[in-house]
Amino acid sequence: MKVNGTHFRSIWRDEATGVVRIIDQRRLPYRFEIATLSSPDEFAAAIRDMWVRGAPLIGATAAFGVAAQMSRNASDASLDEVCTILNGTRPTAINLRWALDRCRSALSPLAPEKRADAAWTLAQDISDEDTEINRQIGLHGLELIRETAASKPAGEAVRILTHCNAGWLATVDWGTATSPVYHAHDAGLNVHVWVDETRPRNQGALTAWELGQHGVPHNYIVDNAGGHLMQHEQVDMVITGTDRTTAQGDVCNKIGTYLKALAARDNGVPFYVALPSPTIDWTVTDGITGIPIEERSGLETSHIQGLNKAGDLTAVQVTPQGTGVGNPAFDVTPNRLVTGLITERGVCEASARALAGLFPEHAG
Ligand code: MRU
Repeated sequence: MKVNGTHFRSIWRDEATGVVRIIDQRRLPYRFEIATLSSPDEFAAAIRDMWVRGAPLIGATAAFGVAAQMSRNASDASLDEVCTILNGTRPTAINLRWALDRCRSALSPLAPEKRADAAWTLAQDISDEDTEINRQIGLHGLELIRETAASKPAGEAVRILTHCNAGWLATVDWGTATSPVYHAHDAGLNVHVWVDETRPRNQGALTAWELGQHGVPHNYIVDNAGGHLMQHEQVDMVITGTDRTTAQGDVCNKIGTYLKALAARDNGVPFYVALPSPTIDWTVTDGITGIPIEERSGLETSHIQGLNKAGDLTAVQVTPQGTGVGNPAFDVTPNRLVTGLITERGVCEASARALAGLFPEHAG
C-alpha cells in the first residue's frame, strides 16, 4: 500500500545490503520510521515489543528472522535456538508458530550450507503468499460490500465498523479486514469506516492513518461507541481480523472484539471476520478454553501515549498512583456470533463443517 504516494510493504529484504527492514510501528501514526533487524534478539524484540504486530506480519517477521540467522550460522543448534527464541515472543497469534513450523520442516532436512538461501526464499514466499491471500480476501469481501451497497439508497455509504488494526500494517500488504474496504473504495463504491480506538494500545490510530493515506472516509471512535452506533442504525456491517481461529470457527482477536460481536448480534448487524488460512489453528476446537491469551504489561493500561502540544511523543498516566491494572490483550468470539468468515477461498459460515469444506486438506 502507499505512504505519501510511495508503495511500501510492512517488511522487506533490502536488495542492496541484504538486511531486513520494517516499518517501526511504535512511532506511528505520528512518525514514519524504518528500522533494520539483524540478530535473533532484535527480531524477537521487534515482535514482543510491537515494532511489528498483527498476526500475519508476526509470522512473516519470524520467517525473516530465521533467514537472517541462517546467514550467520546455519547449524542445527542455531536453527533450534532461533526458532525457540522467536516462538517465545507472543503467545496468541498462531501465525508465529505456523511460520516457524514451516521454516523448521523446510530447513531441517537440508545440509547447513543450503539453509540460508532456502530460508530467504521461504521468507519471501511467505510474504508474497500473505499479500496474495489478503488480495483474495479483499475480492471476496468486496462482493459482500457490493451486496450491502445494492440494498441501500443509491449513493449512500456502506458503513463498516472495524476493531484494532487488521490493515496492511498488520500483514505484509493489503491487510485482512481492510482489504475489502480498499477494494471497494478502489472500485468506486461509497464506503465509510468507523474505526475503534482499541485501548489500550490504540491500534485504531494505525487504521485511521492507513485509511487516510488511501483516501478512505472514516471516523475514529472510542471503543464504547460501537453499540450505540449500531442501535441507531449507523453501522451496516462489522469486519474484524483474527489472531487465531479454531477449527470450529471461534475467533480470537484483539480485546473488545467479543463485545462488538455481542452488540452486532443484538442489533442484527452482520459480523464478518477476515481470515487468512494460516491463522486457522486446526489443533484447537473450543477457542475459549483452547487459546492462550496474552497478558501484556499493565503500563499499557495505566498509561496512554500520544503527542503533546509541542509535538513530542509522550506517555501520560491515566490511573491513580498505585492502582492495580490488568491487560488481557485478546478475547474469543464464539462462532455462533460470527455471520461469516472471509477467507482467501471464499466466504463461509463459522463452523467446523464449512471450514473443512473450504480447506479439505486440513479436514480431520
Ligand atoms: O496486539 P496486536 O496489535 O498484534 O493485535 C492485532 C490484532 O488483533 C489484529 O486484529 C489481528 O492480528 C489481525 S491482523 C490482520
